[in-house]
Amino acid sequence: MTMAARATRIVPELLTENLRVTAKLRLVMPDNEPSRRLRAGTRLDKYRLVRRLGEGGFAVVFQAHDTIEDRSVALKLPDLTNDALSQSFDDVQREVRIMAGLSHPNVLPLKDARYIDGQFVMVFPLGEESLHDRLCRRLSRVTAVDYIRQMTASLAHAHENNVLHRDLKPENFILFPGNRICLTDFGLARNQTRRHAVSASGTLGYIAPEQAMGKPTFRSDVFALGLIVYRMLAGALPEYPFEPPLPSYAKFRKGLNQDFVDWVRKAIHPTPSKRFRDGVAMHNALERIRSVITDKSTASKSARRSTRRAA
Ligand SMILES: Nc1ncnc2c1ncn2[C@@H]1O[C@H](COP(=O)(O)OP(=O)(O)O)[C@@H](O)[C@H]1O
Ligand SMILES: [Mg+2]
Repeated sequence: MTMAARATRIVPELLTENLRVTAKLRLVMPDNEPSRRLRAGTRLDKYRLVRRLGEGGFAVVFQAHDTIEDRSVALKLPDLTNDALSQSFDDVQREVRIMAGLSHPNVLPLKDARYIDGQFVMVFPLGEESLHDRLCRRLSRVTAVDYIRQMTASLAHAHENNVLHRDLKPENFILFPGNRICLTDFGLARNQTRRHAVSASGTLGYIAPEQAMGKPTFRSDVFALGLIVYRMLAGALPEYPFEPPLPSYAKFRKGLNQDFVDWVRKAIHPTPSKRFRDGVAMHNALERIRSVITDKSTASKSARRSTRRAA
């Protein structure tokens, strides 16, 4: 084939490809901002977005319908378009790989992660609501303790796999039917291989003092989980400097075994070295406490109430 022939063969292809790309860019670019492009009804391959479920710092989460499998899923759609506000692709890839490496009944399973029409998509089973939403309604002590055991098991699993979560808070636990609870949002998580660069990321409210100073360790996750537990039982959140008197302390400890009260207080000790070493130690200590609720009337009352609700 002569050069000219090759050129005439190739050039039209290139031209068409260029035109297609240009046309696509024209079609997509002005409307590329996820908040405008992603709304109920939007199609992403086999998924149809149904409704917005939540939004953290860097992503929006939608309930979606899988039109091939005919079932509902949750899609997490990180915003990779806005350099100033968004996570970088490396951040999202880290989140995906960390989640793919975990497998536990109380860690939200990642079903798939890939680009669809230029949008990065993470696919998860659809939960009912977040623990944050659930805490707006009354929670019996029996159910709270059931959740607490599962949440502690999820943290033990993450730490066993050398993963620091760094953003434990009620919004990042998702509830499923049958009172199952799963940890999610590993967007700030890191593998604990060496000392991390100074970074104060995390959520104010549940962040351990040393993490706020840029030195997160497994003990900072223990602290954040301890604060969530305290809030679940007391209805109030201790604040910096996290020293006694703790808010609503009488309400917190009502009907609870002293060993369990001590377990929570150890988890939220302001000094990291006085806390559990990691989620595994925290989990093992909880397993050793036989009956967390000692006040049988509280226990049986809430048990009766939940049986009535279930009936
Ligand atoms: N699988 C799910 N099922 C139901 N709701 C979910 C699910 N995943 C996330 N959500 C909702 O979306 C919110 C944000 O999800 P999350 O993964 O924490 O993203 P972000 O990194 O933006 O915080 C959660 O707080 C929760 O309310
Ligand atoms: Mg979140």
